[in-house]
Amino acid sequence: MSASRGEFSSRFGFIMAAAGSAVGLGNIWGFPTQTASNGGAAFLVAYLVLAFCLAYPALMAELVIGRHGQANAVTSLRKVTNQAWQKKFAFMVGFGGIICAGLILSFYAIVAGWMLSATLEPVAQLAGQEQAGTWLSEQSLSRNLLFTAAFIILTVSIISKGVENGIEKWSKRLMPALLGILFMLIIYVMTQDGAMEGLKAYLVPDFSSILNPELLVNALGQAFFSLSLGTSVMIIYGSYISKKENLVSLGAYVTLIDVFIAFVAGLLIIPAMYVAQAQGVQIFSAEGALLSEDTLVFQVLPALFTSMGNVGIFVGFAFFALMSIAALTSSISMLEAPVSYAVERFALKRVQATWIIGGIIALISFTIVFNLGTLFGFVITLTTKIGQPILGLMCCIFVGWIWHRASLLKEIQQGCPEAANSFFWKVWPWYIKFICPLAISLVFANSLLS
Ligand code: PHE
Repeated sequence: MSASRGEFSSRFGFIMAAAGSAVGLGNIWGFPTQTASNGGAAFLVAYLVLAFCLAYPALMAELVIGRHGQANAVTSLRKVTNQAWQKKFAFMVGFGGIICAGLILSFYAIVAGWMLSATLEPVAQLAGQEQAGTWLSEQSLSRNLLFTAAFIILTVSIISKGVENGIEKWSKRLMPALLGILFMLIIYVMTQDGAMEGLKAYLVPDFSSILNPELLVNALGQAFFSLSLGTSVMIIYGSYISKKENLVSLGAYVTLIDVFIAFVAGLLIIPAMYVAQAQGVQIFSAEGALLSEDTLVFQVLPALFTSMGNVGIFVGFAFFALMSIAALTSSISMLEAPVSYAVERFALKRVQATWIIGGIIALISFTIVFNLGTLFGFVITLTTKIGQPILGLMCCIFVGWIWHRASLLKEIQQGCPEAANSFFWKVWPWYIKFICPLAISLVFANSLLS
């Protein structure tokens, strides 16, 4: 493909963009909440092992398909096939991933809109605008519609600028900002009463619960969502990687950063829960179970911020700004999956394609906002519990069973000539062929049963 379809201009740029996709609400909200409700440190240990041993190899499958194809997800998947039925299958998986990414964006934008309004609320408070503050902090149709639209427009304006000037440039700015805010907040929370107790619950594992099957499948599901697998996103980001780059190390960096930020977010949120508990906010039951998973971010933490007085206004602002940034670097990757397909398939201009697809996604989001009680949960289940595991599994099948082995090995060795002898590449094809499909099927079966 010609250079005009865009390419990440540097290793750092790709790593920030792909890590930006991976690091999102799933890390800062999902992971700590799951850890707190699945036995603390035992979940952390299981998550670390599964993220590196299973999710990372599956991520490599998607990146390799994309880098080989140098095209949108459907075309890239087609390029590893040779029979007619395989080409149809490639369309179903690639297009399915694109739809999945678009649908994830349609609910993600609503939650991100809540984050944006929660970021502005402390500002309204400081400005003495009490009425505006109340409107910003309470669920209402007008607020949800406005902020969902605002978030989608933000996402569209970055994606319409393309790979280098849009995705790469903004990921390189936003990701370091996210880290900075995260560390500032941790330092603050660590100085509060109760933080040490939280740290202990997070870091000292009770090994007896580590082999609990439910804990294991939850940890694997979390790792797959967090690495944005099964949505065509990593295929398309892989397609913007130069043939000169070493894929194994790029994928490893992305996994490391993703896991690191989830870990660090746990260092903030879990001690913060204990600090809130010490200040009289009810977080755990008498038996030590987490009382409110869903309300953690919007009720428990704001209660903690309020109890801090004036400092809390700034801490609250910083926390929700952090969440909004994390959401934005993920949402741009979700939009890039359908946009790259529309640009290459229908020869649309990028700006046109971005606004049209952004508009369609906004309409779906608004429909969900109008039916929050029913559609919201339905779309989340459909995409994260059904779509992602099935499509992630299919990508492993493409690499393990459909792609011609010699062609796969040739692609792997581009930018990494030593691949032929390295331990990773010797073990990896087996992993992708047998272990990954099996493990993903397990998660899928469990999520259907629960
Ligand atoms: N990985 C992102 C998160 O943790 C979510 C995401 C899912 C992004 C699928 C892209 C595609 O929040």
